[in-house]
Amino acid sequence: PLVTTGELVRRAAAAHGAVAAFNIITLEHVEAVVAGAESVGCPVVLQVSENAVRFRHGRLLPLARAAAAAAERAAVPVALHLDHVQSDQLLRQAGSAGFSSVMYDASRLPYQENLAATGAAADWAHSQGLWIEAELGEVGGKDGRPPLDAHAPGARTDPARARAFVADSGVDALAVAIGSSHAMTTRTAALDHDLLKRLSAGLDVPLVLHGSSGVPDDELTAAVAGGITKVNVGTALNVAMTGAIREFLTAHPEAVDPRTYLGVGREEMARAVARTIRTLLRPASA
Ligand code: G3H
Ligand code: ZN
Repeated sequence: PLVTTGELVRRAAAAHGAVAAFNIITLEHVEAVVAGAESVGCPVVLQVSENAVRFRHGRLLPLARAAAAAAERAAVPVALHLDHVQSDQLLRQAGSAGFSSVMYDASRLPYQENLAATGAAADWAHSQGLWIEAELGEVGGKDGRPPLDAHAPGARTDPARARAFVADSGVDALAVAIGSSHAMTTRTAALDHDLLKRLSAGLDVPLVLHGSSGVPDDELTAAVAGGITKVNVGTALNVAMTGAIREFLTAHPEAVDPRTYLGVGREEMARAVARTIRTLLRPASA
């Protein structure tokens, strides 16, 4: 069934775990995420980023409707989340398109501007009954840009600033920059667990890890134990899908029916989804 992101995050927090949120681009992603979550019997978040909307010619509804339809029929609870929104025009479509939550991303702006834009977005989101996540510090590697230097200003979330940012903006959750980076195709990110500990001790909103594709399993379980409650994964699904399709087409150069290769791509993504969710279930000491 279709549920809200807020509910899944609250449930995960109460169980000292994390809910997995996967970025969807195609209908195959939608079906694979739902199938993967069903195979392990766990709730999941389907998220659509502003980038994915851009790829869909700026139209949110076709993918949103597919995701909502899949969620309604799913054997596990599924929520819809609008991810990395920068455009106010897209933000305002969230509720009517079936999303219960948004991540408003003004993290590239200087602190005061990020706070002002995020505060306005949070006021609007709450007036619509939407749950809102924002970002402070910047998780690098967005839009094809290289990962940020670990020592660059803003490359890490400052705990004192994060406290003020959450209090003054009124957001429901915070994406923190603790060493992960978007679009990594190798799992080599090292997280700053000491910083995560300080962030989670000082904040009473759920913390979100972005760029989780590049984070090794043991680092992920440690991050969940350290207070991460929502884990965003995108690139790992694309690596799985593209790898499976490449392998299939190499072995079957005569193939022309997209169902043959999209099918193997979808299966491989579903396996990746199940693996990630299982990792998040495992206690850090295991
Ligand atoms: O918001 C989306 C996530 O941060 C995905 O990052 O593609 O590096 O896994 P990733
Ligand atoms: Zn992200």
